[in-house]
Amino acid sequence: MNLEKTAGHVTKFASSISDFSLGKSHLKFFTSLPEHVFSRTRVMKNMYNKRWTHKEHHQSYELNNVFRFILIAHNNYLYKISESILEEKAFKDLDLFLDNESVHIKNIYSYFHEIFTEIAIYENLRYDAIYNSMNNIATQSMSFGEISLQRMLKLRFFDNLSHLEKTRKILYNYIFKGSSKQPNRHIMDGNGCVAKFILKNQAFFDIPDFIFKSALPDYINTFISFIGTKMSNLIMDISLYPNVRKELEAEQRSLIKKYGRSITSKQIDEMVYLDAAITESLRLGTNNPMKEAICDSYLPNGAFVQKSSLVKFTTISYNRSSEIYGRDPHCYIPERHFELGTKLEESSLTNIAWGLGRPCPYRQYCARYMKYFAALFIRLYNITQGSDNGYTGHQGYIFDIHVLHAKKNLFLSRRDL
Ligand code: HEM
Repeated sequence: MNLEKTAGHVTKFASSISDFSLGKSHLKFFTSLPEHVFSRTRVMKNMYNKRWTHKEHHQSYELNNVFRFILIAHNNYLYKISESILEEKAFKDLDLFLDNESVHIKNIYSYFHEIFTEIAIYENLRYDAIYNSMNNIATQSMSFGEISLQRMLKLRFFDNLSHLEKTRKILYNYIFKGSSKQPNRHIMDGNGCVAKFILKNQAFFDIPDFIFKSALPDYINTFISFIGTKMSNLIMDISLYPNVRKELEAEQRSLIKKYGRSITSKQIDEMVYLDAAITESLRLGTNNPMKEAICDSYLPNGAFVQKSSLVKFTTISYNRSSEIYGRDPHCYIPERHFELGTKLEESSLTNIAWGLGRPCPYRQYCARYMKYFAALFIRLYNITQGSDNGYTGHQGYIFDIHVLHAKKNLFLSRRDL
């Protein structure tokens, strides 16, 4: 290990991009300091939008809140789109399943990347010309590492259009004047489409055009990369742990028996085992973002943090600490969260996937959606490693910006729970 210096849970690694790694005693400090002291946005700026002015970054931050309210209001549309796309995919795969008892998915991350790209684009844009240009970029193979992050940046396709008014007109024409071809898919009527809603109500709510360059592509990008990765990890966990799969199936069966097939908000609340299974998957599959010091400061142990230093919290070791999570912290055991009292959508000392002091504002939205998506998937597919008897091996994790299973393949067989 290239360890340069350790002092009171503060570490510097010689070859790391970060200047300081903070250990568990610094969790609250690291996660609670305001944006003008330790900034996550500044790191994002350097990674994604170097050309933006400070004012534009500030505006983007503000627009995120506006966008979030619009999304929440369109929540049902996202759910319907997801169900429709998943069912359509299952229907397309039907031939494969007829010939084979189960289908071998070679790379669950690419498989889900494609599904989530489709969902995000239909939720937000839907119209075929935009869809096609996005899809061409987004379906390139991805590894989710730093290099592929660069590739994902291309998703910010609106950056290529230098003039925002032009962007807005293009979108307007696509959506209202039908200047593009008709939508190439007819799964939904498109009235819930987020871009359409913004364009229609832009003047009334005084929403600047900049939203099409900032919050909207930001959301698409984050939705695909975050939710896509977390759901891939969960499905891999389910395939590796037959005992967990059986509990999840039993929970879904009992909900179907009680309420029928459609999934309502009340049922999402009642999916307690799924809640714990996703929380546990996030625990093992999370690496929280780095932040940049905006001013000179001192850490609680007295270490001097110079302005512009990059600081991160050692999430991976925190999340594998037996002091916090009890027995076998490297193992996937959803039941531990019943004892710990952890809830997926609440950030807490035993669930730091969303941050802590200033947690992710999308946490409730994402948590509920992840439960909904996972429930649909579990009802449609039996998820295995081919055989429950032969141990196929976990193969550990790859730690990068996202934390991924090293193993990528699994087997799906169709069923209707
Ligand atoms: C599984 C999905 C997600 C996870 C695990 C996640 C996690 C996080 C984490 C750890 C933070 C940093 C908290 C801190 O500063 O310490 C954060 C912040 C943030 N996330 Fe998420 N996030 C997810 C999905 C999303 C999505 C879909 C969006 C939509 C754009 C989003 C938007 C944001 C924003 C705007 C912030 C900054 C909040 C602030 O600094 O005030 N997140 N998220």
